Amino acid sequence: MSRRHFVASTAAASLGTLAIGAEPPRPAGDRRPVAISSANGLRAVERAIELVKAGHDPLDAAIEGVAIVEADPKDHSVGLGGLPNEDGVVELDAAVMHGPTHAGGAVASLRNIVHPAAVARVVMRRSRHVLLVGEGALRFARAHGFPEVNLLTDEARQIWLHWKETRDPKDDWVPPPDEKVAAFIREAIEPRVTGTIHCSVLDTHGDLGCTTTTSGLSWKIPGRVGDSPILGAGLYLDNEAGSAGSTGVGELNLLNLSSALIVDGMRRGLSPKDAIMDVCKTIAARCTRDPLRRRKDGRLAGNVLFYALTKDGKYAGGSIYPGAKMAVHDGDSARLVPCDSLYDRPPATDR
Ligand code: GLY
Repeated sequence: MSRRHFVASTAAASLGTLAIGAEPPRPAGDRRPVAISSANGLRAVERAIELVKAGHDPLDAAIEGVAIVEADPKDHSVGLGGLPNEDGVVELDAAVMHGPTHAGGAVASLRNIVHPAAVARVVMRRSRHVLLVGEGALRFARAHGFPEVNLLTDEARQIWLHWKETRDPKDDWVPPPDEKVAAFIREAIEPRVTGTIHCSVLDTHGDLGCTTTTSGLSWKIPGRVGDSPILGAGLYLDNEAGSAGSTGVGELNLLNLSSALIVDGMRRGLSPKDAIMDVCKTIAARCTRDPLRRRKDGRLAGNVLFYALTKDGKYAGGSIYPGAKMAVHDGDSARLVPCDSLYDRPPATDR
């Protein structure tokens, strides 16, 4: 793609209104940009590439990309419409990393704010801290002008209520008859939602930025924090090597700092695919030592998915169990591509 093309598209793309803490655009470079994301991130990679072609910072582009999904009430794994904790309260986690400065910011258990990834950028740029949680994170977001909203949509509340009414036949909550349960509720209850969105972006200068944002595990114990806001676990980057992030059961990444391991693998010269598969093997070998994380068939209980992008634009996705896809935009078009997996067959049952 020519330099003229990048310059010509500059006027077309600007950041959204929640770009608090974003960088001003610079003249676009002449390298081919790449954006990768989880399977729910097709619109995210499209938006991110539009922005980096217009000279925007790769992290700002990633944040704007995932903001589309954070604001989508139909995605029950992220932001507005995310499934709540066991008390029916939506608590969001997010983190960002910026390649050129090796800076990072994060928020955990954040309530009432649709765009936690944008708040994480403000933690990075407007504080000397890296991670703010709970009430402190909310007060910080308020101080910087982020509007507060009720994140629990009526659809997410109905799904949560069904979970609450059916979880224990001995309690006093009574579910409606089966035929009265809406299809959207059935679909959202099984399997348990562990979704999230990650987005890594390589810009036209060869610089990287990434973010991971989530409402976390559905029905989590209030206060539970997953891997998404933990640098090294749910995302990591090294501007000299590459960027990586994850979706799925966050505890597996907290126990292995998986994203940092993948980036380190790429720094040592592994391809993104080999770096991911190495880490999938490590996770399965280590975590199946714990009976809580081992299925009856001896394999890992829970799945994690990884997305990795090198400094020179190579990418791959991979997971423990088969069937995953990732979203990619390599400058020309956005598409879903299959991910490799460690195991060749899915689990027969949840345990
Ligand atoms: N990976 C998202 C979470 O476990 O919260």
